Amino acid sequence: METCSEDAAWDIAFSSLRVGYGEHVVLDEITARLPSGKISVILGGSGCGKSTLLRHIIGLSRPMRGTIQIAGADLFGLSSRDFRRLRRQMGVLFQDGALLGAMTVAENVALPLSEHLGLSRELVRREALRVLKMVELEAFADFYPHQLSGGMRKRAGLARAIITNPRILLCDEPTSGLDPVTAARMDALLLSLHAQFPAMTIVSVSHDLMSLERIADYVLVLKDGLLHFAGDLASLKASDDPYLAMFLSREAGTRLGDFSESMDARVATALADWFRA
Ligand SMILES: Nc1ncnc2c1ncn2[C@@H]1O[C@H](COP(=O)(O)OP(=O)(O)OP(=O)(O)O)[C@@H](O)[C@H]1O
Ligand SMILES: [Mg+2]
Repeated sequence: METCSEDAAWDIAFSSLRVGYGEHVVLDEITARLPSGKISVILGGSGCGKSTLLRHIIGLSRPMRGTIQIAGADLFGLSSRDFRRLRRQMGVLFQDGALLGAMTVAENVALPLSEHLGLSRELVRREALRVLKMVELEAFADFYPHQLSGGMRKRAGLARAIITNPRILLCDEPTSGLDPVTAARMDALLLSLHAQFPAMTIVSVSHDLMSLERIADYVLVLKDGLLHFAGDLASLKASDDPYLAMFLSREAGTRLGDFSESMDARVATALADWFRA
């Protein structure tokens, strides 16, 4: 299997970024760099703008101001051809897996290959089975999404996100709504991907603190529309900032925020946009 090239730095840099909807600013003054070849976790309470930031990283929405640079290229300054080329280097796991109900698991997983015209059906099937095997769903290739559990759907979504061997993998709440054992299994999968493809930049959006501790190299914490913290996991845990201490406190429980699945409908729309674009 092709791996990410070791020479290019596939980091994601935000500079004075302001994002929102219409007039409504969701996040402002975001300046940070998600390091190449690491697992970064974007953390914050429900509704703070995590999925919004993700939408912008994958180019589905334009920032109100500021820039997003990916591997040194200004995402919104690219020609549409270069933009598409860059976007092909990104795999996305949407919040609920965002599988299309009328297609089998294997067909869903193979969707990102559909823009590579001329691939034989056999090759497409083989590639789908290859990634389904990585997420331990090979036996479910010909099932339909409604026949899978929530955790299996997320794993199928992950298989679809990695089928093009992306340099950047973005995951929106890969463990939300999963029981602790299934959540741990999802994290183990991300860690094993990270071990197999050390140059891949992985960004996970989460409010699952157990997951954070298991997978994060680097962390961004969003609060009140601003970047509250950016740094490695050790400095996050060592911080004496009262909000972070509260956020990370064991007494507060292991998960924060409510499990808003309200994004699901929106990510499904986003997914449709994504494949149409
Ligand atoms: N398509 C949209 N149009 C208008 N406002 C939106 C849209 N999507 C999100 N918002 C608003 O943007 C803000 C941030 O939402 P977002 O979904 O990014 O938060 P989140 O941190 O991902 O939340 P959660 O943890 O619940 O998934 C919220 O106030 C939300 O209502
Ligand atoms: Mg969200």
